[in-house]
Amino acid sequence: MKQLRLKLRLTLPLLIALAGAPAFGQTGTHPTNNPPSMMREQAAREAFIDKLMSRMTVDEKIGQLRLVSLPAGSNPDKPKFMDDIRAGRAGAVFNTVTPKDIRVLQDAAMQSRLKIPLFFAYDVIHGQRTIFPIGLGLASSWNLDAIRQTGRISAIEASADGLDVTWSPMVDISRDPRWGRNSEGFGEDTYLTSRIGAELVKAYQGDDPAARDSILAMVKHFAAYGAVEGGRDYNTVDMSPQRLFQDYLPPYKAALDAGAAGVMIALNSLNGVPATGDKWLLQDVLRKQWGFKGITVSDHGAIMEMIKHGVAADGRDAARLAITAGADMSMSDTMYGDNLKPLLDSGRVSMADLDRATRDVLRVKYDLGLFQDPYRRIGRPENDPPDVNAESRLHRDAARQVARESLVLLKNQGGVLPLRKQGTIAVVGPLAKSQRDMMGNWSAAGRADQTVSAYQGIANAVGGQARLLYAKGANVIDDPEIVKYLNLYEQDVDVDPRTPAQLIDEAVAAARQADVVVAVVGESQGMAHEASSRSDIVIPDSQARLLRALKATGKPLVIVLMNGRPLALGWENDNADAMLETWFAGTEGGNAVADVLFGDYNPSGKLPMTFPRSVGQIPIYYSHLNTGRPFDPAHPDKYTSRYFDAPNGPLFPFGYGLSYTRFELSPVTLSSAEMPRNGTVQASVTVTNTGQRDGATVVQLYLQDPVASISRPVKELKHFEKVMLKAGESRKVSFTIDEDDLSFYNAQLHYGAEPGAFNVYVGLDSEDVKQAGFTLR
Ligand code: BGC
Repeated sequence: MKQLRLKLRLTLPLLIALAGAPAFGQTGTHPTNNPPSMMREQAAREAFIDKLMSRMTVDEKIGQLRLVSLPAGSNPDKPKFMDDIRAGRAGAVFNTVTPKDIRVLQDAAMQSRLKIPLFFAYDVIHGQRTIFPIGLGLASSWNLDAIRQTGRISAIEASADGLDVTWSPMVDISRDPRWGRNSEGFGEDTYLTSRIGAELVKAYQGDDPAARDSILAMVKHFAAYGAVEGGRDYNTVDMSPQRLFQDYLPPYKAALDAGAAGVMIALNSLNGVPATGDKWLLQDVLRKQWGFKGITVSDHGAIMEMIKHGVAADGRDAARLAITAGADMSMSDTMYGDNLKPLLDSGRVSMADLDRATRDVLRVKYDLGLFQDPYRRIGRPENDPPDVNAESRLHRDAARQVARESLVLLKNQGGVLPLRKQGTIAVVGPLAKSQRDMMGNWSAAGRADQTVSAYQGIANAVGGQARLLYAKGANVIDDPEIVKYLNLYEQDVDVDPRTPAQLIDEAVAAARQADVVVAVVGESQGMAHEASSRSDIVIPDSQARLLRALKATGKPLVIVLMNGRPLALGWENDNADAMLETWFAGTEGGNAVADVLFGDYNPSGKLPMTFPRSVGQIPIYYSHLNTGRPFDPAHPDKYTSRYFDAPNGPLFPFGYGLSYTRFELSPVTLSSAEMPRNGTVQASVTVTNTGQRDGATVVQLYLQDPVASISRPVKELKHFEKVMLKAGESRKVSFTIDEDDLSFYNAQLHYGAEPGAFNVYVGLDSEDVKQAGFTLR
């Protein structure tokens, strides 16, 4: 591995020099590209910071690098921390989330010698007070306008709470559903994730980061955290440079190109080097190649963890590694405060390193407008919201709109859906009445009691028109050890004192009286979270038994899934009449679920991650290589790349999702059979809604380079468009393919397109596609 890294370090700069263009094929933010007014502003900022830094002591500089978690409420360390702020020993605080609580901290900073304001951050991942669907749900909407709106509302609500910064977007590509943090990201695909990450950054930051209602975005977790081995959180990441540059790094780069102010460094090691101490990653790639000029923050305790990674002997060593690698702020540890001074005294860390990191922190504060007005977002006490949880502070309409678009219809046999608002409907399952789970994890300042459960949404929709029955039917999970684990730091799952048999009997009795059964099952929000990796990805036993008992009643069975990762749903798919993937849909989740169940909204979501048949197929992703012995289901053969006990293909492919109407695609037409260098080719299809209902679908364009200098994926998403069509309506959809769409990192990590034939695939999912082709000259 050392050899590989050495190769990268030596060959990349050389290649760049030889090629005379950035080897990473990206533009990067460079001061020389900026208009004169922006350059003047930047010069003014640097002059301001120079002047301030000339007055700062070493201790004050080190203080700026400290990032402290301070949740509101009783905290024995708070008095000591207040003293630290007054003494200039802190740069920023996170986890304090109301203007009133934040103001106290800023007041203390204003009593410090130089009155340098703190900035305030929080994990605003999918909403602040109004909670939107989790990342996988937002991605399932494939609606960038709607996603941008969630980001804008998040910024409005978070800034109104006094916050300046969000630790978002999380753009870690993951192809392993065992990893619990899939829920936070946007799935397996580089292009889709890059587009979403960039939209969110622009939405959070607005046109002017100093605006009262803008917050700064810090993209995370740099880099490749989603590729932890075995899907086990915090585990090792080891990958080829081609895959790293081609698939895993572009989403971070896209967020930075969109203007993200900061980067949160990943907890994992990458090819043997913990990211927090990886000079190559944090300087050569991030700063030099990409031209990034913002701030980097370590993740929770990550500097100290370099001791356990086995690359630092002690805290001092870890602090030296981190600051010299380019980690500006230290989150939730005292590594910098305890060690930087002696490291400077002994000459093991230079003043230039400390100054560079301090400057990055001050720059963010300047850009946030905090030197002009430290209370810019906090506001004045007389304007504090009388009730921070007031209903009037929520954006329910927007939450419901995007939530309905995030739901994916996986199966609908015999048109059991949409349901009619009549007769008797049995709503069962441990998640049916859960408000907490509907919000999903990282639900910021969202409140369960303001969240619409699936049952409540269904009740709202039917009004008095249908009779509703309810039974819990099962616990989310029965295994006491797992319950203990999930409930370790907060109450995640409640265990019903009744026996499993009693719970099932009650549900079966309800089902027998009903015309249709809606079973709301899946995972608790805490099962799809940080530190929530699973070695199997099925519906937990307790709920699987419930589903079997419901099936045995012979009543039509509609499964409503709540979960934060792809699940293996073989039995469910074989036995349910309909299946709706709802992820964790947020504050308005229950109403959105009901909108789709009753056909008030025609489902349009598409999967952003492949659903395997079983855990044994993982990693499974649509953009795989062909191999030298691809398995051909039409001509099955033994010595091919396959399992002998299971099919190769997924249960549901990437990009898949049904509708209550039907869509048909015409053959693909191309504007030309040849693309000149630096030219373009237009690919067009006509999509027709051939069914009886209005509806939306997502037209997806994939490309393949079938003969290249290195083996390339069987297809890669390069463009998409979500289209709304009335029943019977047709629309032509055109995509412009350019050379960048054809480009990749070759064996020498040089980025570019190779001449020759290319395949174009257009479809409504990644498998069912129409094909065309052209040649790059
Ligand atoms: C997570 C980050 C998060 C941070 C602060 C860490 O445990 O890995 O994603 O931003 O905590 O809450």
